[in-house]
Amino acid sequence: MREHTVATIPADGIGPEVITAGIAVLESLQERLGDLKFTFRNFDWGSDYYKRHGVMMPADGLETLKPFDAIYFGAVGAPDVPDHITLWGLRLPICQGFDQYANVRPTKILPGITSPLRNVGPGDLDWVIVRENSEGEYSGNGGRAHRGLPEEVGTEVAIFTRVGVTRIMRFAFKLAQSRPRKLLTVVTKSNAQRHGMVMWDEIAAEVATEFPDVTWDKMLVDAMTVRMTLKPQSLDTIVATNLHADILSDLAGALAGSLGVAPTGNIDPERRFPSMFEPIHGSAFNITGKGIANPVASFWTAAQMLDHLGEAEASERLMRAVERVCGAGIRTPDVGGTATTKEVTEAVIDAIHSSNV
Ligand code: IPM
Ligand code: MG
Repeated sequence: MREHTVATIPADGIGPEVITAGIAVLESLQERLGDLKFTFRNFDWGSDYYKRHGVMMPADGLETLKPFDAIYFGAVGAPDVPDHITLWGLRLPICQGFDQYANVRPTKILPGITSPLRNVGPGDLDWVIVRENSEGEYSGNGGRAHRGLPEEVGTEVAIFTRVGVTRIMRFAFKLAQSRPRKLLTVVTKSNAQRHGMVMWDEIAAEVATEFPDVTWDKMLVDAMTVRMTLKPQSLDTIVATNLHADILSDLAGALAGSLGVAPTGNIDPERRFPSMFEPIHGSAFNITGKGIANPVASFWTAAQMLDHLGEAEASERLMRAVERVCGAGIRTPDVGGTATTKEVTEAVIDAIHSSNV
């Protein structure tokens, strides 16, 4: 019996609804496969916790999470708590404290979901975006001086380190190598940004020599938006800085038909700390409590979590079940269906138990 301990942090808005659905699906996989076991422990951290305690999580939160094999996260953000508090109070301290430097964002067009691109269907768009998750433009380095005066200045300084760039490049090349096409596109902006981005390109070329079987190319980020839109078939694995990948992954989600189904893994590839898996969509307060939140992103990120835990068979079975259910038209309203969260979840559980999935 392989055992995995998972800390669940459903947090805000529709987070609890989609994480409950995800746990039900993981438990059904456990029943179906018989040789793996999850132990879930739930943490009620988030905006409600903040309203009661003045903090998003307890001061020893990271210590509490550290022994777990993985973290399964819902969404943060509340209409009546400022975004920088919810974000810098919970999700970012976990990503940074656990050095989850590789943010992995798979994107593909699921069966039954329509891309806004003409003549592009499942199979034409199957990407994984690797986002540098620990430094770059979002390092938090900068400051303000002479506040409120005419000469006020604000700086937001991007940081690129040789260690940081080398490790994300290695991760991306390795991931590209593990996929059938062995194809990596390195996104850059070294024409306009002549220091950090030129170093980024140089390190990409150095790391490439360790992976002679991976075909790679380089794209300027602006031109990349055009290629993603006009030639989605020409891309497979993509690596980009924190800011570039933040923007490109929203575009990717839209081109694949819905940001609502997109998952993400915040990964510590060295496994010193637990990695964290979450749907990309936010807390969606407009539909909270209505029972119609799309659970597909939380299922897909559960599949990422299974892969990370070495449970490839369970992960593949889960994704086959999700694809079958989407393809059969059992979809929530955000992707053009009429099903509820519960109906989609039950259909996925049925598919997991059916012998031919
Ligand atoms: C994402 C989100 C976050 C990010 C926001 C909430 C800060 O947009 O996961 O892409 O950009 O990191
Ligand atoms: Mg974003």
